[in-house]
Amino acid sequence: MSLPSTIAIDGPAASGKSTLAKRLADHLNYLYFDTGVMYRAVTWLALSRQVSINDEERITRFAEEAKIDVRPPSKGDGRAYDVLVDGEDVTWAIRRPEVDDNVSVVAAYAGVRRALSAQQRRIGLRGRVVMVGRDIGTVVLPEADLKLYLDASVEERARRRYDECLARGEEVSFDAVLTAMKRRDEIDSTRDVAPLRPAKDAVILNSDELSIEQVVERALSYVQGDC
Ligand code: CDP
Repeated sequence: MSLPSTIAIDGPAASGKSTLAKRLADHLNYLYFDTGVMYRAVTWLALSRQVSINDEERITRFAEEAKIDVRPPSKGDGRAYDVLVDGEDVTWAIRRPEVDDNVSVVAAYAGVRRALSAQQRRIGLRGRVVMVGRDIGTVVLPEADLKLYLDASVEERARRRYDECLARGEEVSFDAVLTAMKRRDEIDSTRDVAPLRPAKDAVILNSDELSIEQVVERALSYVQGDC
């Protein structure tokens, strides 16, 4: 049996998708593509240009016109890749709390999704890719060879995100992270266009009780067709 060439990984914030995807991609020598980066880049652009987050028209234009590049890492500061927006390095800027707080509003705009998912689909159709997001298995690549949906309780996910913030030296409270995460979950799962949900044929993995090693091991057994 041949290995799946397109692997879609979806799930809510901080469910461990990026870590799993990176490990699978390295193991298979595939491209790892995190689509959340693109929604974050457009959100960063709006915030840094002081455009209101409610200005759907201008933000949609940013999504259509901005040149978002994801490249191999140029620095050894813990980044998995470089993210450039119109040539500017925004790799860490797109992880700031103000982007976290606004990205789901931006990602709910139909025009933004149209522009970004078209680019994502073009990349995905080349194959040998592990693509991560919210709607990869349902909308961007519904024909993906393998679809995984990674889940975990909101408390566990908030704890992980809180630890990441602390590690980066950001001052946040656990309660603030938890509240922000619940709000993002709510917007992502109830929006009209491409809401967060598992594809009908997705394998659902819950990582509450599993270490990252165990999640990778289970995912690999699906990749290798053992399950
Ligand atoms: O890293 P984390 O899971 O917190 O978020 P992310 O994957 O970087 O995605 C940030 C936000 O972008 C999500 O909360 C969604 O609102 C949006 N997004 C989306 O709508 N569709 C995707 N394919 C990827 C991200």
